[in-house]
Amino acid sequence: MLEALDTIKTTALSELKKTSDKETLRLWYSTHLSKNSPLIESLRNLSNVAPKDRPAIGKHANQIRNILEEAYKEQTHYLHKSTASTRQKHTDLDITLPGRSVNRGRLHIATQTLRRIYTIWADMGFQIYRSREIETDELNFELLNIPLHHPARDMWDTFHTNTPGVILRTHTSPGQIHAMRANAPDPIRVILPGMCYRYEQITARSEIQFNQVEGLAIGTNIRFTDLKGTLTDFARRMFGNSTRTRFRASHFPFTEPSAEMDVECFLCSGEGCRVCKKTGWLEILGCGMVHPAVLTNGGYEPNKYTGFAFGMGPERIAMLKYGIDDIRHFWGNDLRFLEQF
Ligand code: PHE
Repeated sequence: MLEALDTIKTTALSELKKTSDKETLRLWYSTHLSKNSPLIESLRNLSNVAPKDRPAIGKHANQIRNILEEAYKEQTHYLHKSTASTRQKHTDLDITLPGRSVNRGRLHIATQTLRRIYTIWADMGFQIYRSREIETDELNFELLNIPLHHPARDMWDTFHTNTPGVILRTHTSPGQIHAMRANAPDPIRVILPGMCYRYEQITARSEIQFNQVEGLAIGTNIRFTDLKGTLTDFARRMFGNSTRTRFRASHFPFTEPSAEMDVECFLCSGEGCRVCKKTGWLEILGCGMVHPAVLTNGGYEPNKYTGFAFGMGPERIAMLKYGIDDIRHFWGNDLRFLEQF
């Protein structure tokens, strides 16, 4: 009897190994462990066995039943796992397909232009300074020679805060005063990039926020020719070696004399096109010799020191360079626009 039980066990276990799916497994169970299987039947019919053999046979049969139940569980688990992984192997993953490309981010065109400008000025020996975006009326206007109620303020429509005298800077020029006060009476060569804000109607040509890059050089014997030479050098590095520049007289309260610099239109090489409005020239920055009153406010003796300053708009430069006809694209966050650069 005991040997018969052992045979049942060996057969059952070897057949179990051959099961390959749910269906064969179910069949195996009904053959070897269901109510009608020889093993369970032998347990049920224990009363037919001689009383002295009963405990040994009963114990042995129960042990085999436990072993088979355990083996069945393991096989179920094994088959479940292996079908899941073969399914994945056969359907989800095809190693012969080309890889899926990762969608990488990129720098905003304004940032790219800014970084190009930084590199050029850094190569020319200018340090990069940051100045604050929330500014006082005093630094944004008064110390730059623009008194309260002066009509020149109309050039810069201003966002005011709830605190009287505290505004959002309308240009990066207040950074000139910060830089001078931090360095006087040492010579200065810096650029001051950053965001500016103006309370304006948003149109294709004007935005309420935009970047500027301010430049400032202070020392002894700095002359207008230095300004012209330095800015022309910048234009050549930015737009190409043969770029020509021209300076037109202009007016800013904090520079005297003041000028605006045009570069020869790099789209039509001066022939005249839509972007340069047939003039052959593009205006890219305002500049001038630092006004004596501003030098004094910054802590420099105007009889001993002179300097030049300039301010340019990177968005405007990018618009000219890439033929972008609407400044609103810069903050519109339209991927179709951004992905072009
Ligand atoms: N701050 C001026 C503007 O916003 C530009 C400028 C800077 C002009 C420095 C002269 C010198 O228009």
